[in-house]
Amino acid sequence: MKLQNKILFLIIVPLQFLLAQNSQPFLKDFDNLKIAKVPLIGKWLGPRDIFKHRLRTLAKWQKSNPLEMYQELRDFRPVANMSKIPGLKLGINSPDTIYLSKRVDIIETMEQPGIFTVLPYSRKMKALGGHMLAADETDFNNIEKPWMRSLMPHSDIAKIKIILEEIINETLKEISVKKTGLTDFNLVDDFARKVPAKFADKYFGFPGPDLKTLYRWSRTTQENYFHNLRNNKKIIKRSKNSEQEMVKYGQKLLSNPETLVEDSILKRLLLSNEVARNEITEERVLVNIIGAIIGSIETTQTAFIYALQELSRRPHFFELAKIAAKNNDDEKLAQLIWEALRFNPINPAMVRVAIKDAVVGKASGHPREIKKGTLILLGIQSAMFDESQIENPREFRIDRPYEINLNFGYGHHRCLGEMINLIQLPLMIKKMILQKNFQLLPEAKKKKSKSPFPENLRAQFLI
Ligand code: HEM
Repeated sequence: MKLQNKILFLIIVPLQFLLAQNSQPFLKDFDNLKIAKVPLIGKWLGPRDIFKHRLRTLAKWQKSNPLEMYQELRDFRPVANMSKIPGLKLGINSPDTIYLSKRVDIIETMEQPGIFTVLPYSRKMKALGGHMLAADETDFNNIEKPWMRSLMPHSDIAKIKIILEEIINETLKEISVKKTGLTDFNLVDDFARKVPAKFADKYFGFPGPDLKTLYRWSRTTQENYFHNLRNNKKIIKRSKNSEQEMVKYGQKLLSNPETLVEDSILKRLLLSNEVARNEITEERVLVNIIGAIIGSIETTQTAFIYALQELSRRPHFFELAKIAAKNNDDEKLAQLIWEALRFNPINPAMVRVAIKDAVVGKASGHPREIKKGTLILLGIQSAMFDESQIENPREFRIDRPYEINLNFGYGHHRCLGEMINLIQLPLMIKKMILQKNFQLLPEAKKKKSKSPFPENLRAQFLI
């Protein structure tokens, strides 16, 4: 070992030991970089090793004890440096990754889409040719999003309810067909994916060639956009193929406009004044309908499963949900579901990239200058447990204001389908838990699934 390394070794190891003794359990793990081992192999840990270690630690704690982790982050390191992310090809030098955990800092960041951008999505959604989720403060956001919203108005709620009632009843019948007694089924493919996939047909007017293909399109694209921070090439390729297939399929649909589902969103988009006045092209109609389909299936199925799993871990609240469903107390059922998703969110963190030098953490009084290209992880779940804003956050309560829910994002990129899911998700859960003796079955011990989404979860009810 070189003399210089020996000296550093003698200083760093005891220092690290002292720091580790003082720190909290999560932060101890987060900071435990085993620097002591490194001089023996003659290599200092680089920023990439540090990032990998920290991301792994976050993932491990997210599974085992997320609330403790977020508490420590908010209390001791609200603006946490994760070091440099490897393999992030954003066309912009990415100096560091910062994890924000205080609600005010996260909101402050999301309120500045001109600085903290969705650049990571834009590279991944290239095959679509531009979409609101992959752009900031452009016509896609400022013209196309309000245009899409105007064609999915609140006055559609009654229609959406009727469509969903039919779809859900039909899907439950398909599960029960030719069977009596206890019916055991795949809750994911036979229900949670199937309902939003059929809704893609009946409401959006984009049925896809068959359900399996629709499932694949939504799963592969969502995996790439939201679960591929490290840019795995295979995941990118699968997603790109799906986007291309969707565009091809959509072009075929548009070439036979007379076959489109009456009063569907696709038909409304085509017949809209904006298209008639040539302000928006048919190509943009296609991109936007595809964006809605991609956004609606895998998210809904995951939220459905996560909410049910969280409720079934809390027998008292699961019972309350069943009673609310029986009594048609939709408001109470919805409160239970949003609270369950606060404890078990589908995306505990979201991503942004600073496209200029900026400051984060100002709102909470922890300002930190960051360089252009810094990747920001927004700890959405932590924000929903921030005691400075949320009363007794660790208590499961059903009287919380809806506004604390960040599961549908916030601000510029807030989910376009939120209104749909205020209806769809509670109705899916209501109908399912109303089935006689409904219960989730224990997950089979099998090879670890590579999918970031729930797969093959069994459930049963009595017919
Ligand atoms: C439970 C189901 C859903 C959840 C949890 C969910 C969640 C989200 C979140 C968190 C975002 C913001 C992402 C970010 O800021 O980085 C988002 C955006 C979006 N969602 Fe959803 N979503 C759901 C269902 C839907 C549905 C049914 C649609 C169909 C229209 C949809 C379409 C979109 C679109 C188009 C965007 C991009 C909006 C923009 O960038 O301005 N989502 N969603």
